[in-house]
Amino acid sequence: MHQIILEYLSNMEKVISGIRPTGNLHLGNYFGAVKSFVKMQEEYNCMFFIADWHSLTTHPTPENIRTSVRTILAEYLACGIDPQKAPIYVQSDVKQVLELYLYLNMNAYLGELERVTSFKEKARKQPDNVNAGLLTYPSLMAADILVHKADKVPVGKDQEQNMEMARLFARRFNRIYDVEYFKEPESFHFNAKAVKVPGLDGSGKMGKSEGNAIYLCDDEATIKKKVMRAVTDAGPTMLNQEKPEPIENLFTLMQLVSTPDTYDYFNDQYNNMAIRYGDMKKQLAADINAFCAPIRERILEYKSNEELLAKVAREGAEAAAASAEKTIREVREIIGFRN
Ligand code: TYM
Repeated sequence: MHQIILEYLSNMEKVISGIRPTGNLHLGNYFGAVKSFVKMQEEYNCMFFIADWHSLTTHPTPENIRTSVRTILAEYLACGIDPQKAPIYVQSDVKQVLELYLYLNMNAYLGELERVTSFKEKARKQPDNVNAGLLTYPSLMAADILVHKADKVPVGKDQEQNMEMARLFARRFNRIYDVEYFKEPESFHFNAKAVKVPGLDGSGKMGKSEGNAIYLCDDEATIKKKVMRAVTDAGPTMLNQEKPEPIENLFTLMQLVSTPDTYDYFNDQYNNMAIRYGDMKKQLAADINAFCAPIRERILEYKSNEELLAKVAREGAEAAAASAEKTIREVREIIGFRN
């Protein structure tokens, strides 16, 4: 019986994805990534992880790391990831990733790493801390994915370039060693198009470091305050006018959390120049709260269950290490090392 299950799993496509533990999960993380994780666990051989090594680029304290890892674990569970279907592990529990990171780094070039947009952005934002980890962030991410020979990686739009690098490193490894070993992992989005959840400050994406995020654990009053402060304008001056970015962003959020009827109602109001942004924001805040409330309750429950969190991480680490160990042994052989 056990053998049959193992064979069945080994024929299923593999799915890997992770999130950095740099705070609480926000709506961008949920709609860009975690929502797909929850759906994919039903159909694929999935594992999801907490990318704590990646978070070191910004030098968190040991206490920061411990707390944030527990938080993301509890939030993964609260969002509906079932560790029986999709093991959840902490990246730093799977040391095989580091070995593959080293091998991939030997074939990753300064020029291409320096051209990655997120590297350039971070180097601009933190000029005093342009460390080598920041530069080689894409090779660590590629190692996370390739160490399990994953087929699909559910991620938001902002990770596209890192995914291209992962494919590039996979192809390059195969070429250098003249093997057909690594598959090129695809980014995966349920709606065919990558999701970019906007922030409430008028432009750009929702993000922790952008300071414009609504967190899954935010309470009703906080959500309302954040939404009511969202940037708007003086209203449309023509029928069916194209929406400027801050307004489009409110509608994008509404599309994610409200019913189609609610969305259509405010969209018609906008097109007829009858929109009252105050009403729209109140509705949006109420719908975000209705969406977050059950998750928020579960986050609190899981966070207080230290024993369960430790068990999930321990079992996840075992499953991930077994899969990674198989790959790393094969990679050593290919490169010419003994096992
Ligand atoms: P991170 O921690 O920045 O974000 C986690 C996931 O959330 C998505 N996301 C968004 N999607 C849509 N709209 C937004 N506003 C938004 N903000 C965040 C991200 O696209 C991501 O899917 N490098 C990764 C972590 C990582 C990883 C990996 C992911 C490390 N190794 C291997 C996949 C596979 C990161 O920093 O994600």
